[in-house]
Amino acid sequence: MLLRPLLLAVLLASASSPFAAAADEQGVTRAKHYGGGYPYNHTLARILVDYASAVYTSDLTSLITWTCPRCKGHTKGFEIIEIIVDVESCLQAFVGVAPDPRSIIIAFRGTQQHSVSNWIEDLFWKQLDVSYPGMPDAMVHHGFYSAYYNTTVRHEILEAIRCARKTYGKLPINVVGHSMGGALASFCALDLSVQFGSEEVELMTFGQPRIGNPAFAAYFAEQVPKTIRVTHQNDVVPHLPPYYYYLREWTYHHFPREVWLHEIIEGNVITRNETICDESGEDPTCSRSVYGISVADHLEYYGVTLHADSSGTCQFVIGAANSVYSYVREVNGTIIVSRYPQEPHTLESM
Ligand SMILES: *[C@@H]1O[C@H](CO)[C@@H](O)[C@H](O)[C@H]1NC(C)=O
Ligand SMILES: *[C@@H]1O[C@H](CO)[C@@H](O)[C@H](O)[C@H]1NC(C)=O
Ligand SMILES: *[C@@H]1O[C@H](CO)[C@@H](O)[C@H](O)[C@H]1NC(C)=O
Ligand SMILES: *[C@@H]1O[C@H](CO)[C@@H](O)[C@H](O)[C@H]1NC(C)=O
Repeated sequence: MLLRPLLLAVLLASASSPFAAAADEQGVTRAKHYGGGYPYNHTLARILVDYASAVYTSDLTSLITWTCPRCKGHTKGFEIIEIIVDVESCLQAFVGVAPDPRSIIIAFRGTQQHSVSNWIEDLFWKQLDVSYPGMPDAMVHHGFYSAYYNTTVRHEILEAIRCARKTYGKLPINVVGHSMGGALASFCALDLSVQFGSEEVELMTFGQPRIGNPAFAAYFAEQVPKTIRVTHQNDVVPHLPPYYYYLREWTYHHFPREVWLHEIIEGNVITRNETICDESGEDPTCSRSVYGISVADHLEYYGVTLHADSSGTCQFVIGAANSVYSYVREVNGTIIVSRYPQEPHTLESM
């Protein structure tokens, strides 16, 4: 699971820049106005990481019936509203209603299109090539952006939320995701905050890559103040695409607030520590204080494994037809398994 030497060398070079602190001052100033005081809740994180792990389950029947290996303990009693599987891009998401925290939970899984290592290497070269609509100077990567906005995923998630709120009342929304799923979750939370209001939406991601430039990060912090971006030890993905202080608006920049999980080893004693980072998004004392060299740290958060059961392939097992409350349909190459039949909502509102 080692990255190729070239990539590693550049990562080390960018991480050890002596000028990083100067750029951070700029970052701090930017985000300071918007940081808010959204607290990190370890218990909540420990619950939500199980959803971020469960969404990797390829057996859709065990997801819809909530009998998968992660569908126990903290997540017991979760009711799936809809599972969305974009077969071509190998993305998967679900929407459902949780007993604790009593909320709608939307979870996105990371991609397994190539091997994880290949995907990580590709991350290094992602360009900031799309202007985020309605926001001057904000740039994001086309691939991250369109995986949420330019697929059936967005439409289906909005429909599922409407359906959930109609059945269960006006619940708050928790959006979660790991890796590439964290990037999708971020765009989703931003979209939902704009549509339903910032008060209603909370975002927690695990080992997500950077997705936009400093202007985008500042905008994001303002729109989605209830955001926790968890990073783990030497996880390589939060270091990518790289942050170059001297490129200013032309570099990627994380949004706040990071919580960095790391182990402190003193003699024979290993202490697990969680550092609550500053509001800059690029706190130099958090994951940026170490080298991003580990894929293993990327695949485990809070001791929970986050990856597909079949590695390197994109498999889905559908046997939901035998389940009385499931409706399976296909829209533009996306498979949708829902608990309720689709209502002609779009026609009504047109
Ligand atoms: C943290 O989250 C848990 C689980 O949702 C909740 O029961 C608890 O009240 C929260 N703690 C605080 C201080 O908000
Ligand atoms: C959206 O998807 C369509 C069809 O897949 C593609 O032709 C178009 O270029 C995409 N647009 C963006 C902004 O990604
Ligand atoms: C399916 O794709 C077509 C062509 O890209 C598009 O016009 C249509 O809106 C899509 N349908 C849905 C439900 O997304
Ligand atoms: C452990 O975490 C706490 C709380 O964020 C932080 O203040 C402290 O500096 C951390 N300790 C080490 C050794 O990183």
